[in-house]
Amino acid sequence: MEFLPEEIEAYAEAHTDAESELLRALSRETHAKVLMPRMLSGHLQGRVLAMISRLVKPSRILEIGTYTGYSALCLCEGLTPAGKLITLDKNEELEGLVRKYLARSGYSPQVDYRIGRAADIIPALEETFDLVFIDADKVNYATYYHLVLDKVRPGGLIIADNVLWSGKVVQPTTKKIDKETQALLDFNRMVQQDQRVRNMLLPIRDGLMIVEKL
Ligand SMILES: C[S@@+](CC[C@H](N)C(=O)[O-])C[C@H]1O[C@@H](n2cnc3c(N)ncnc32)[C@H](O)[C@@H]1O
Repeated sequence: MEFLPEEIEAYAEAHTDAESELLRALSRETHAKVLMPRMLSGHLQGRVLAMISRLVKPSRILEIGTYTGYSALCLCEGLTPAGKLITLDKNEELEGLVRKYLARSGYSPQVDYRIGRAADIIPALEETFDLVFIDADKVNYATYYHLVLDKVRPGGLIIADNVLWSGKVVQPTTKKIDKETQALLDFNRMVQQDQRVRNMLLPIRDGLMIVEKL
């Protein structure tokens, strides 16, 4: 499901900073060679992530779900000079592509790219994060949220992608609810009721839940 009419999306992109040549190339190569290229954040959402990151000026970012590295490169745009982004993905097949674009971007020295299951890696991280981007398996969003919240500094942000799940979160209750939709309904409700945070569901692309830790 597309949320915006195609021409409105095109108009919004035309009035948004252009993608860099590198990000455009990464998007092209992902679409040409990798399964499920729709997972890549893309132009508009990428610029949103980059702007949020530049506003936060994070020294520590955690990304859960690297895929081909598009959102990681966008988030790196706001890192402080000594800052670091840790990005996690279980799919080792994408490593070559991710490392190629990290190297071309110049951000390689600031990126700690780890391959493995996020729920195994996160508990051992000893950093305090200014910004966390959750964009991996939807059924574990609540798990990731609970694992990271104590590691986020007060005032820091957690952003969770795909929280509208192509509109399935508002489908008629007579329809059978699949497990990803149920997980996202539970996640959105849990965040909304969590007294430890402020939150806003931004209907950009497939929905970004922006969470500010109090
Ligand atoms: C939607 S894609 C990430 C897209 C990327 N953030 C972007 O915007 O360009 C989700 C990624 O999460 C990874 N993933 C799924 N389950 C995971 C898990 N349990 N641990 C780590 N990564 C996982 C998948 O391999 C996939 O590459």
